Amino acid sequence: MRGESILIADDEKLIRWSLKQELIREGFDVLEAETVEQTLAFVREKEPDLIILDQRLPDGTGIDVLQEMRKEKNEVSVIMVTAVDRSDVAVQAMKLGASDYVTKPVNIEELKVVINKTLESTRLKRQVAHYLREQEKQYGFCGMIGSSPVMQKVFEQIQKVAKSSTTTVLITGESGTGKELVARAIYFLSDREGKPLMTVNCTALTETLIESELFGHEKGAFTDAKAQKKGIFELADGGTVFLDEIGDMTPALQAKLLRVLEQKTFRRVGGNSDITVDVRIIAATNQPLEAKIAEGKFRTDLYYRLNVANIHLPPLMERGDDVLLLANFFLQEFNTMFHKHFKGLSDETRDLFLQYHWPGNVRELRNVMERAVLLDDGDLIFAHHVKLGHLRNLPKAEEADKSEDAGVALSLYEIEKQTLIRALEKTNYNQSQAARLLKVGRDTLRYRMKKYGLLKKK
Ligand SMILES: Nc1ncnc2c1ncn2[C@@H]1O[C@H](COP(=O)(O)OP(=O)(O)OP(=O)(O)O)[C@@H](O)[C@H]1O
Ligand SMILES: [Mg+2]
Repeated sequence: MRGESILIADDEKLIRWSLKQELIREGFDVLEAETVEQTLAFVREKEPDLIILDQRLPDGTGIDVLQEMRKEKNEVSVIMVTAVDRSDVAVQAMKLGASDYVTKPVNIEELKVVINKTLESTRLKRQVAHYLREQEKQYGFCGMIGSSPVMQKVFEQIQKVAKSSTTTVLITGESGTGKELVARAIYFLSDREGKPLMTVNCTALTETLIESELFGHEKGAFTDAKAQKKGIFELADGGTVFLDEIGDMTPALQAKLLRVLEQKTFRRVGGNSDITVDVRIIAATNQPLEAKIAEGKFRTDLYYRLNVANIHLPPLMERGDDVLLLANFFLQEFNTMFHKHFKGLSDETRDLFLQYHWPGNVRELRNVMERAVLLDDGDLIFAHHVKLGHLRNLPKAEEADKSEDAGVALSLYEIEKQTLIRALEKTNYNQSQAARLLKVGRDTLRYRMKKYGLLKKK
């Protein structure tokens, strides 16, 4: 495809001229710039498809241009031109987002290859971005895909809740159903958008740490408290605090949180004055809080304070054809990431996906798609590319309870083993290559191979 525009940024007229002749012959539109300033002006005004950027310019460097473009979130593709002995510049340029580099003196044939490769991947990225935007416009809402009635209802609830900027929200749903995405959506649609959004994972920290994390501490409050520190509630003043995995909070912290909800005040650890803040709280949990209350592990009063508005995310298996929408959405995402060209799912895979009960919900589907796209090539994702746990209607009803746990454990074991075998077969049992493919170290790979009895095979 031609008619694409290339900007040559170089201060040497002769180089520009000879490059330009070559590129025009190839059918490109060519723009020329001599300085950093001119280059940036062209980038802003003419939006070229590609820049061939010399490192040495009269008023600065190519790196300066890249830095400025990054600041402006401009994503025009760049091929950097560096001196042979300046691999450090090349590395820095790639880190700043350059697509590739060539060294001086420029070999025009080499440059043409690099240009075509870069433009090809730019085209692909644009197509995918366009596709994802269209999907999102048609079936999505704030980065969440879903056209099923149950998800449409969730989207409506998000919109309603977002309008009131003080209402506390409790998001419930199994693991992997998208609770974090909902929390973000509420934040982005509310008039607290642009103000702080602070997330706390209540499982990740010990009792003392989480308390100081949430409320801050005074100097000397405990051994490591060398200076006064503001906590999340203070830092989020005017904004939103997202308390993730709230079901894991200890009773002592639950009491303190209740006080924040009721009075909007708290004290720093070791402090004795009340601090008042204006924050909206969004909480999420994948645990059934009613059951925790019955066991005496979660405070009823806190539950009611949090549950002012409740958004419940249905499990993926209750969302009908959303499974297929989501699968295609992730397929495109991983196509781009791994430079693959899958076009869709085979009929058999579609049926399989609609049958399967997805215990890990959307996260599991995303992982399944990632693995399939990474480890295979072709047009369609076939059923044998995807390894799922047991199917929802396979175990007989009366056996289902007993076999549930065994089924999940077995399937995880099987999934990992099959993934290993495929990576090894694909690389002819070359362990270094297989490790790279699976993004693990060689030691990890060998450990797993041993675990699954795969070490002997050569
Ligand atoms: N409707 C959706 N559309 C697109 N992606 C989704 C959707 N729902 C979830 N995801 C993706 O699935 C993954 C899991 O989502 P998320 O982390 O929000 O789940 P969660 O409910 O918070 O799970 P957990 O309880 O385990 O924390 C993420 O990668 C998220 O981007
Ligand atoms: Mg989560």
